[in-house]
Amino acid sequence: MKKTVSRRPAANKTTVSLRCFEEKCRARYPITDAKPFCPACGGLLEVHYEWGDLDPEALKQRWRTRKMSTDPRDLSGVWRFREMIPFLPPEARIVTLREGNTPLLDAPRSAAYADMDRLRFKHQGFNPTGSFKDNGMTTGISQAVALGRKVVACVSTGNTSASLAAYAATGGLQAVILIPAGQVATGKLAQALEYGALTIQVETNFDGTWKLLSRLVEEAGVYLLNSVNPFRVEGQKTIIVEMMEQLEWQAPDWIVLPGGNLGNCSAFGKALREMRQLKLLDRMPRLAVIQAEGAAPLYQLFQRAAAEKKAPQELSLCPVENPTTLATAIKIGAPVSWKKTLQEIEATRGVCEKVSEQEIADAKAVIGRSGIGCEPASAATLAGIRKLVASNVIRKNDQVVAVLTGNLMKDPDYVLAYHQGTLAFSVAGKQRPIESRFGNPPVSVPADVESIKRLLVAGSK
Ligand code: F0G
Repeated sequence: MKKTVSRRPAANKTTVSLRCFEEKCRARYPITDAKPFCPACGGLLEVHYEWGDLDPEALKQRWRTRKMSTDPRDLSGVWRFREMIPFLPPEARIVTLREGNTPLLDAPRSAAYADMDRLRFKHQGFNPTGSFKDNGMTTGISQAVALGRKVVACVSTGNTSASLAAYAATGGLQAVILIPAGQVATGKLAQALEYGALTIQVETNFDGTWKLLSRLVEEAGVYLLNSVNPFRVEGQKTIIVEMMEQLEWQAPDWIVLPGGNLGNCSAFGKALREMRQLKLLDRMPRLAVIQAEGAAPLYQLFQRAAAEKKAPQELSLCPVENPTTLATAIKIGAPVSWKKTLQEIEATRGVCEKVSEQEIADAKAVIGRSGIGCEPASAATLAGIRKLVASNVIRKNDQVVAVLTGNLMKDPDYVLAYHQGTLAFSVAGKQRPIESRFGNPPVSVPADVESIKRLLVAGSK
């Protein structure tokens, strides 16, 4: 019998390269290139895909089926969506701690506080090291391993370093972290030490450490794993993919997130644009980036653009010289991914808002009272939503998902000070108290049942 030969053309495969983000440059490099910035113009790099034939319904089905699998890649809430991040060769080793898989939580109390009908939190604090950085670190470290790198480094306001330390240890690499001395929350510093990173506290702020690290990358050849690393951005994209799967592929009206170095916003926007290209979403949600008042260079850029009646893209970002906020995770004056974020805010018809220290503290306590909890930077989301609802930018009945970026236990000192009424914020050398409006201070009693009973009676009134 004559053998039939399949004449079907080979399926159109996705191709991948590194591309300079700057529109006037757009230089391309092989995906194995390890330079942190574009060698031609110094711009940020991005992973660029020419998507092959991908059937969106088949993808959704495959991702769902993988939930039953025990393959380590399928147990990861990042690599389960690997068709969205296809930059590694199939034989590559994946360094995973079962990241992602974070819940989408309904929060009626927080919704009421913001005067909304409904509000949901995508809680990245459920990650292995307690922040959204793990989504990007599994991809960043896996790429470092694929490239044969041995030493990986970052500067950090705390969460990146905790995550880098954990994933480097898992992958058998040496982690070097530079952190601003005395400005990193206790939980995060403790993690970096425990996971064995070389932890260098520098007498400067985040922006100062960034300048130092840039030189180390050039002069000492360490592999940079800050969010300028395009492979980290790829992992953080899956926060959005997982969110949409949890929403049954119905895009919300708004996705709200805190803004610091602005890597996460660029990852979210890239994810949304690519999901639209792949027909995984039928409409584009709007991004709302919330910054702390004392560290709000992006917000200021939008204000200037409005005042000068210009497009934000026509302006340059003016760094905030001495950023101040108790939300140390987002205490950044010169965010490196601001141009990428401008692009994503434009692509999603997004907005940028700022919130005060008191607003962050109150919102954080309300998220706590919702039984959820988060670290201060994450609470900027609820504070921002409340403001945006009050100013009619977000409507009361809009579908909103806020991304809580870090776990409550990251910054216990802040929590205790707030509830004990001692939280204060220093402005121009002067201490300004933060009111403990939702405070829940501990009560001390002698070791005697009657006094505890009296407290119970008083508490039930
Ligand atoms: N929320 C938390 C809890 C963070 O740790 C960070 C950033 C952000 C929000 C802001 O995200 O920088 O992508 O805009 N933390 C970095 C760090 C800077 O070093 O851990 P971004």
